[in-house]
Amino acid sequence: MDHFHLQDGALHCEGVSLEALADAVGTPTYVYSAATMERHAEVMQAAVAGAGTGEPLVAYAVKANPNAHVLARLGKIGLGADVVSIGEYRRARAAGIAPDRIVFSGVGKTAEEMAEALAGGLLQFNVESMEEAHTLSAVADAQGREAPMGFRINPDVSAGTHAKITTGTADNKFGIAAADALGFTREAAGLPGLAVHGVTVHIGSQLTNLAPLEQAFCRLGELISALRADGRDIRIADLGGGLGVPHGPGQPEPPSPEAYGEMVRRVTTGWNTRLLFEPGRLIVGNAGVLLTRVVRVKPGVRAPWLIVDAGMNDLMRPALYDAYHRIEAVRPSGVQQIVNVVGPVCETGDTFTMDREMDRVEAGDLIVFRTAGAYGATLSNGYNSRPLAAEVLVDGDRWALIRRRVDPDALAGVETADWR
Ligand code: LLP
Repeated sequence: MDHFHLQDGALHCEGVSLEALADAVGTPTYVYSAATMERHAEVMQAAVAGAGTGEPLVAYAVKANPNAHVLARLGKIGLGADVVSIGEYRRARAAGIAPDRIVFSGVGKTAEEMAEALAGGLLQFNVESMEEAHTLSAVADAQGREAPMGFRINPDVSAGTHAKITTGTADNKFGIAAADALGFTREAAGLPGLAVHGVTVHIGSQLTNLAPLEQAFCRLGELISALRADGRDIRIADLGGGLGVPHGPGQPEPPSPEAYGEMVRRVTTGWNTRLLFEPGRLIVGNAGVLLTRVVRVKPGVRAPWLIVDAGMNDLMRPALYDAYHRIEAVRPSGVQQIVNVVGPVCETGDTFTMDREMDRVEAGDLIVFRTAGAYGATLSNGYNSRPLAAEVLVDGDRWALIRRRVDPDALAGVETADWR
């Protein structure tokens, strides 16, 4: 459920008219509904409440939408953070998220990043290789601290999602093969400065089927038993993120958070670990739209080209993953038309969709790309010397600019060349 709806013939975000927002801020602009993201967070928290031992922690995957105001909202209602860089760690801390609610994931953490996060405090580093464990050990030893550590297994499970967002097969760069896990933990436990208490798995994103998740969690459960039998004290099982979101009619319907929670309870019975979750898209995906204006309509061979002022640099998902985004007129005409929707960028890949049936719109009209709250603004770039889109947060009938449009010259970061 989301809080985008028609009111007086035009699309609103909660109590705010998108037409009024476009007039005030310009386009393209990302518009987020605070009520929607808070609701999704609460639904997820409720779905896993009582699972595992102690308090389950929903650590929001900051990469999905790292805007400081989004993080602060989510932190306030009890979400932790899953971070993958020191930049994300700093943002999570600046948003008021407590260190003991932060996990640090990723295959390429540098020693500098580890040192800063360890000194600042965190719940757990999720380590992905023996090489990384050695670096973390050296960093911790140098600080005279113990680094809380989990490690990620690669369960070799196909998640049934797009290849570029699949992370848990043997051929992906992520994690440690389950078969190597015992040897890995023995060696890691012998290194100074490491407190190995956790295991984690994450097999991919926009998953619309629970079966591969269940398979991965079962492997993790078997591993926990084997590790305990080998003398390891495993206290935390981090089940990653990945649950998909609905993209609208005709698109695969993901399982509900409730169904996910039931599966988790069933599979983790008897694990005797605290459970962590790292949802990103589920929390913010359907809480955001990209608001854009039609620049012109150009006749085409198959269908008219609807050329909008947002490009692939603003919303990369269709170009990167062939992703489907529902497209709606802000003021629906009630007359359907088949169109190709494209941006102004000089690449054929700057195509949001071909042959899409939608409400007829004209040059100057506003449309939205739905489900753009996750991996939208954060993946944007300044290609073609275009500005970064503005971001607006709506709360009831109030709104605030939470990122101004970033000028291409500021983005380019051109120096006065100081030749030496
Ligand atoms: N945990 C880890 C270790 C991850 O790598 C990810 C996402 C998540 C959690 C959160 O996954 P989520 O719940 O959002 O599915 N840019 C792509 C998605 C990349 C996901 C990367 N990792 C897209 O736009 O579809």
